Amino acid sequence: MKFDIILGLIILTFVVFIIRHFHYTLKLRSFGKANGCKPVIRWPLKDPLLGLDYWWALNQAAKRRRLLDWIRHQYDKYGTTYYTRLHITNVISTCDPENIKAMHTTRFEDFALDNRRELAFLPLLGRHSVLLANGHEWEQKRAMLRPSFSKEQYTNTLLYERHVSRLIGNVKSAPECKIDLAHQFLCLTVDITSEVMFDKSIELLKDDKYDLLDNMTNSAEGGHAAWLLVWLTKFVRQPVYHNSVKHVRKFMQLYVVDDAIAYSNKVAMGGHTDFKVNKSLPRQENSRLPRPIYLEAVAKATDDPTVMLDELTTILFAGRDTTAALMTNLFFLISRHPHVWTRIRADVGFLEGSKPTHEQLKGMDYLQACLKETLRLLPVIPLNTRMAIRDTVLPRGGGPDGQSPIVVPAGTHIAFHVTALHRRPELWGDDAEEYKPERWESMKANWVCNVLALLKSIPPPFTDTFTLADLTSHISPLLMYSLGVSTDHRESNLQKHQPFGMGPRNCPGQHLSLAEAAYTTCRLAQEFKEVKPLEYGPWEELISLTCTSASGAQVQMVPA
Ligand code: HEM
Repeated sequence: MKFDIILGLIILTFVVFIIRHFHYTLKLRSFGKANGCKPVIRWPLKDPLLGLDYWWALNQAAKRRRLLDWIRHQYDKYGTTYYTRLHITNVISTCDPENIKAMHTTRFEDFALDNRRELAFLPLLGRHSVLLANGHEWEQKRAMLRPSFSKEQYTNTLLYERHVSRLIGNVKSAPECKIDLAHQFLCLTVDITSEVMFDKSIELLKDDKYDLLDNMTNSAEGGHAAWLLVWLTKFVRQPVYHNSVKHVRKFMQLYVVDDAIAYSNKVAMGGHTDFKVNKSLPRQENSRLPRPIYLEAVAKATDDPTVMLDELTTILFAGRDTTAALMTNLFFLISRHPHVWTRIRADVGFLEGSKPTHEQLKGMDYLQACLKETLRLLPVIPLNTRMAIRDTVLPRGGGPDGQSPIVVPAGTHIAFHVTALHRRPELWGDDAEEYKPERWESMKANWVCNVLALLKSIPPPFTDTFTLADLTSHISPLLMYSLGVSTDHRESNLQKHQPFGMGPRNCPGQHLSLAEAAYTTCRLAQEFKEVKPLEYGPWEELISLTCTSASGAQVQMVPA
């Protein structure tokens, strides 16, 4: 009797499940029809339930340091958007600029960060990290970040000089100036980020205290390994990852968070809020100028030490790994393209040895082109993910030609791949695989031609052939370019060049990072006449929080 009841309940549950599933499928179908959607191409899964074959292939490619190549190869085979499965999750993989744009801008509200990122990076970044936050919590954190990335911060080149000249000194004192610049850039970016954000440099270029650098690197790499494991990360212990995270967070607690707590207490007691660090690390003269310090903003917003620790640790990682990866990749490429260094040196020659201002750096077209081209060919964040939080639509990937919209049911993960986008020959030309900073110069020349053509083409006030809409569609990208919102002149470029993401969740540190990289490169160009490679292998990926050259940037710098 009892058994009959249990069996009856099981059957009833099953029937309800089937009916609900059937109903949902019908609902999705009519939703898709209303939006002109067509079926998306499927990756040929042998295991359609858990997608273990897809996951295995991904992991094998990652082991060979060929993950990015493998992913690009899938797009060549199956088109720029396809469906697959990863463990228990439905995944749409895309490198179509229209889909990436929709997720980041027009359909921003329909997507959030997926829980895979949280699973992997929670131990390192903590529950209160902006990089793991969604919804209202994210909006608040983003608002708190904004002032610290203001123009007065990143245009203040004096903030960088002390650290960059220390780096130059380190290169000059290396035997025969032979050095792995990757290590130096990691120290530099820790020092500059802490100077700018905490008003107190950690000064790793002077000495690597407490193995901070290695522990940060192990933590970032451990996070990526956990990300590759997807759900399995819950069951696999990674002692190196967890130990390194412990060390980094302890360091941050002692050297940064304690200051934030002291500041927070002062604010609570209505005391004078002119922040004075209580540690012995030196501050830079010019940093005493009033400027928005992130540590102070965090300390004003909370007195919870865990929140402070999560926020401040996140910003240190975000500021370190990204710009260091850009600089390492840049010098890896320069060492293999000597003419690029010659041209950069020609660009900076007019300074006659004096330190560049931000405006002067912005005017160095070739140097700026080198940074853009490095971020195109070797993007620092080559892959990223989102999750649909309601049933929605992406504009491309449906039908045999992949040009129709597709339905994206709630819970689907979207993996988007910037390296694949940045190397598509139909967007970048047949030389998309080559490092050619010059391509940005010709794009700029085209921009001037476009403006002239536009001015010539504007007929006496708007005729049938040239409407107000045409004019605004031409003008708005130009306006964005002129206002400095974009570094590109055409909207199409804006979509096809995505190193910093786009929309409300784009990178707030992009100007700081580009300013830091331009300043450092310019100063190195003033001091060294040649950059010779010390190894000649092809570029291999090292993916952690970011992606950089696995062999670093091992070079011999020849003093000028
Ligand atoms: C070459 C340098 C950099 C690149 C390529 C880069 C790229 C990116 C990208 C693609 C995102 C969006 C991530 C997503 O949508 O999931 C992002 C977010 C972010 N970046 Fe950067 N970044 C760089 C430098 C920096 C620097 C120097 C800082 C800080 C000092 C920084 C702080 C952040 C923060 C806090 C976020 C999270 C923003 C949010 O979620 O609202 N980045 N970055």
